[in-house]
Amino acid sequence: MRRAKISIIGAGNVGATCAHWILTQELADVVLVDIPQFPGKDKDGKDIMVDNTMPAGKALDLYESSPICGCDCKFIGTSDYSHTADSDVVIVTAGIPRKPGMSRDDLIATNTKIVGEVAEKVAKYSPNAVMIVVSNPLDAMVYVAWKKSGFPTNRVVGQAGVLDTARYRAFLAEEIGCSVEDVQALLLGGHGDDMVPLARYTFAGGIPITQLVKPERLEQIIQRTRDGGAEIVKLLRTGSAYYAPAAATVQMAEAIIKDKKRILPCAAYCEKEYGIGGYFVGVPAVLGTNGVEKVIEIELDDNERKAFETSVQHVKDLVASVKL
Ligand code: APR
Repeated sequence: MRRAKISIIGAGNVGATCAHWILTQELADVVLVDIPQFPGKDKDGKDIMVDNTMPAGKALDLYESSPICGCDCKFIGTSDYSHTADSDVVIVTAGIPRKPGMSRDDLIATNTKIVGEVAEKVAKYSPNAVMIVVSNPLDAMVYVAWKKSGFPTNRVVGQAGVLDTARYRAFLAEEIGCSVEDVQALLLGGHGDDMVPLARYTFAGGIPITQLVKPERLEQIIQRTRDGGAEIVKLLRTGSAYYAPAAATVQMAEAIIKDKKRILPCAAYCEKEYGIGGYFVGVPAVLGTNGVEKVIEIELDDNERKAFETSVQHVKDLVASVKL
């Protein structure tokens, strides 16, 4: 039987950690792709970025750990997209983080260029893959990847909701004093600041969360979840979160590779769904071999709908600032 193949574009913290989670689950063979990034000279003495052995080093290091974890996965690290050919899933983490003095618009412009070029190459070498986009600002980058790949909407999906929900579930489990496994939650809308938590759809061991956590405490936990990314940045000082984002991404990849039909909160394309009209927004979606196989529309009360509409408007404003 052919083992599944996952290519990861961007072999930085999130990308390499995805590869590690994939290995521990023996989910797929992995190709790690990154760009040449060391200054050097071409044959005429001109300054260029020279070949980059970093992804090859990470790939070899991961492979050398495989006998210990008892998992048979192959790893390639490269700058050459031909190695990614015929991937089942491609995870896109390429991009740059915001640097001091850089506006949000500057970041969007830079990452639009990077993610756009990456998506074109992904489509060229793996025309049948499902692409999971992780690069930020997520709600805009998943749109860019869709436009530039020319993929059908079901084969492009953004990772945000699984991470936000995981943070929320972790904080709730800590508050209640129960297993993280027993907390089930649903968040809608954009990533981070824009997420819309739904207390009515949150349970611990089947018990509505409102019976276990007082409203003011729940509000504090929701705010901490919204600020979850910033909390980690503040602690790390030199980068952003990667263990939980990578775990979230690999859970989505697993659902696709194993055709599990998992219902996970993802940035999925919504046309008629929720009346959104052609944007990628965080909604519950069924993930299987064909990528997003269904967007599930849930009932919302007036307050929930209002919060969701505000979040969707932010996504639309963000996408409007993208210049393709
Ligand atoms: N092609 C391939 N890789 C690229 C490209 C490109 N065109 N441009 C940049 N990269 C690579 C960088 O060289 C770097 O190794 O993407 C990698 C990004 O890794 P990190 O800087 O370590 O960032 P990381 O923490 O992994 O975050 C990646 O995920 O969660 C989001 O906000 C986060 O947008 C960021 C992305």
